[in-house]
Amino acid sequence: MKIGILISGRGSNMVALVDAVKSGEIPNSEVAVVISDKKDTAGLEKARTRGVRALVIERKGRSREEHDAQIVAELKDRGVELVCLAGYMRLLSPMFVRAFPNRIVNIHPSLLPAYPGLNVHERVLAAGETRSGCTVHYVDEGLDSGPVILQREVPVLAGDTPETLAARILEQEHSLYVEAIKTLAEKTTASNSSS
Ligand code: GRF
Repeated sequence: MKIGILISGRGSNMVALVDAVKSGEIPNSEVAVVISDKKDTAGLEKARTRGVRALVIERKGRSREEHDAQIVAELKDRGVELVCLAGYMRLLSPMFVRAFPNRIVNIHPSLLPAYPGLNVHERVLAAGETRSGCTVHYVDEGLDSGPVILQREVPVLAGDTPETLAARILEQEHSLYVEAIKTLAEKTTASNSSS
């Protein structure tokens, strides 16, 4: 299964996926390309030091559709079959979503459908929640709204700040994302060998 990963920053979830593909934990797969919509992000360097092709495709004043069309063309050129969003800070256009039907996934640091969007941990703490977590889901045309693939709960502790809660959840994100993509890779392998 050829995977393309979109990032906008640090890229720790991307690294978790790349390392799991390399170790074979995610079977029969290859990370064909990492694309960042921002230049000079830490994630780009992390991908390159792991031997993964990493590109910058900035929006540069273009429409969302024009920007997405360039990204889709790059992913298609590389034969990408599954697109993983990993800290990618843009909403995909309907054209992008339709170009990879049921083949785009995202990780989000809350128990969706609760707390979609930005500033999740601040909002979770302000609401006095005692539990939060992370979700891997299919991407549709809405904001963090597609069908859930896997979720994991993480406790909110007394004295948590947005930073301590984010760090506790991020640790779980890495293994949850790997687990979800492993399952998708196994299904893809099974359907390729039966066809
Ligand atoms: C993660 O918390 C992810 O859930 C959210 O953005 C953050 C990205 O972190 N969508 P990283 O770039 O993977 O380190």
